[in-house]
Amino acid sequence: MQGARILATGSAVPELCVNNFKISEMVETSDDWIVTRTGIKERRVLTGIDKSVVDLACLASIKALDKVSMSPLDIDLIILATSSPNDLFGSASQVQAQIGANKAVAFDLTAACSGFVLAVVTAAQFIENGSYKNVLVIGADVLSKWTNWLDRSTCILFGDGAGAVIIQACSKDDNGILGFQLNTDGEKSDQLSIPYRNKAKNKTISICQGEFDFIQMNGREVYKFAVSKVPLSIFKCLQSLCISTEDVSWLLLHQANERIIHAVAERLSIHSSKLISNLHKYGNTSAASIPLALDEALSSNKIKYNDLIVISGFGAGLTWGTVVIQWKC
Ligand code: UT7
Repeated sequence: MQGARILATGSAVPELCVNNFKISEMVETSDDWIVTRTGIKERRVLTGIDKSVVDLACLASIKALDKVSMSPLDIDLIILATSSPNDLFGSASQVQAQIGANKAVAFDLTAACSGFVLAVVTAAQFIENGSYKNVLVIGADVLSKWTNWLDRSTCILFGDGAGAVIIQACSKDDNGILGFQLNTDGEKSDQLSIPYRNKAKNKTISICQGEFDFIQMNGREVYKFAVSKVPLSIFKCLQSLCISTEDVSWLLLHQANERIIHAVAERLSIHSSKLISNLHKYGNTSAASIPLALDEALSSNKIKYNDLIVISGFGAGLTWGTVVIQWKC
């Protein structure tokens, strides 16, 4: 068994910025309502008929590789956490080809807003058991493509983006991925989903075919779920590592709602000065939100060597989970 640590990060967002005032031209809402209930002021939206999640994922990945002057050919594995691929069979292989990581195995991981946490944990297993040395983990989503822009209860929330991290094998002493705690409650999968709806039935062989709907969400229930379950996951994870909440340097939660972020921190008695948040600028970017905020916090030199970062994702599935990282670069 060996250690694993995050070597570099990168991120990318589309150019088009849509603020709350623009949204209030489309649905009955206001900047005041959105800011008060969510903390979101604006979000980025991918435009261009030929653009997809792959473009954002590639850009974020290249930025991460460039930071450590690593050749894409040194990547052994690519995990693309996304719920908005441009191909139902997966988009990771397109990323592999476009960035020239020709030696890497590549696959998608679908776990909505928990996708990045699950992908980091998966990558760490491959590294710790000695299978791979360099893993590129990407969280990327373009939920604007699955948003009903006439539904005010959801269209105010989501934005598009991508974040990438390179995780590398290292000595046990330098291990940066200290532990994790993951959960799924499939009984509540209907609380947040992009359901597939069967439509016409083929008369000859009785096959039903249909299409995917827009995002469906029970906001109140998802809110309650996040505020009650996420602190427990963090607490269990820290307890298993014998780390007290007082020793946490940074709390980086999936960027869904500023009120959720503060409520979770309060339940853990973690001071608001330790929160990493950029939700106001990007909204909820699903699997991208954590690596996007991590990259930004690193760029602004917030995170220092040996800092303890508690990262939690939560969302559709329902899935939720925590990974505790010690910054080792
Ligand atoms: O990434 C996955 C995780 N997703 C989440 O974490 C989302 C969690 N949920 C939330 O963030 C919140 O539930 C929302 C921000 C989605 C909604 O906030 P809320 O405080 O739970 O509002 P609500 O759904 O209880 O609605 C309150 C009122 C309703 O009116 P009535 O029934 O009280 O008359 C809504 O119709 O606000 C109304 N409303 C709006 N008003 C203005 C709902 N959406 C809007 C809107 N603008 N955009």
